[in-house]
Amino acid sequence: MSWVGRSLLSIDELSRSEVDQIFSLAKVFKFHVQQGQVPPIVNREFAATRVVSEVFFETSTRTRLSFQMACHRLGVKVHGMDLLSGSSVKKGESIVETIENIAAMGADLLVVRSGGGTDVDQCLRDLPMPVINAGAGSIGHPTQALLDLMTLLEWRSQVEGLKLLFVGDVRHSRVANSNLPLLRLFGVQVAYCAPEAFAPNEPTWSSIPSFATLDEGLKWCDVVMGLRVQEERHQGAGGYDREKYIEHYRLDAKSLNHLSPQGLILHPGPFLAGVDLAREVLEDPRCRIREQVTNGVYVRMALISLLLGIEVKK
Ligand code: CP
Repeated sequence: MSWVGRSLLSIDELSRSEVDQIFSLAKVFKFHVQQGQVPPIVNREFAATRVVSEVFFETSTRTRLSFQMACHRLGVKVHGMDLLSGSSVKKGESIVETIENIAAMGADLLVVRSGGGTDVDQCLRDLPMPVINAGAGSIGHPTQALLDLMTLLEWRSQVEGLKLLFVGDVRHSRVANSNLPLLRLFGVQVAYCAPEAFAPNEPTWSSIPSFATLDEGLKWCDVVMGLRVQEERHQGAGGYDREKYIEHYRLDAKSLNHLSPQGLILHPGPFLAGVDLAREVLEDPRCRIREQVTNGVYVRMALISLLLGIEVKK
């Protein structure tokens, strides 16, 4: 299927060969940028006429700035504002109405982060321009799953049969919900370790094994992906006891003794320092958390260029 004009609202919309295509372009971009070179864009003048609108109804550091960085590297214009505090949402305008107004300004691509919901999803599907889901509630975060897999593939070029363990608040994690189908598409075995209140309850997770203790899970896996405790999505305490959580689920030097010395540590960020992840983990040679952030720029450059018809010389 042609890329130009398409949206990416869910990771399920991508075939394995399309994911490979994104990674192949992302690799080209990463190589050139890290060599200090300008990305090899063929139709640079066309790229300079394209405008991307950022539409973020939830906070973000990595995703929003990464999309901005990707646009700047491609020579595409990007605009956006803090919709949480500065927009007419504060006056009572609905999310759907806000999206439709921003779309009416005629951007060539919308990058949208929202709390999700069927009305928002339908609105995004009806827009005349392509849309990239930059995180929708607990539902999905497809570009995060792509950058996670790119990081995994840089670590092991063959990921089929690898074992990946999610730790923490799986139930409220859009990252885990997008990662699960993508990892399975590439043959990665998935399991999780979470307290009862954070165990996934969507049918897609029903056949996924779980571990009662972190030690057991870490001994089983090759790759561990920590997840932030998403207190903003908990309705009520839901059985979450912060001290107990730290004792049983935190990734730190002590718990990570159970992960293979050849293992890999990932976390999509942001992390709650000292709760889901101890800062010392960033110093662990198995940790690629910063590399995930770096790869986010290149995956997003690849995706934007494909959807906008920006041609790249390989
Ligand atoms: N991983 C991620 O989506 O981070 P932000 O919320 O900072 O964008």
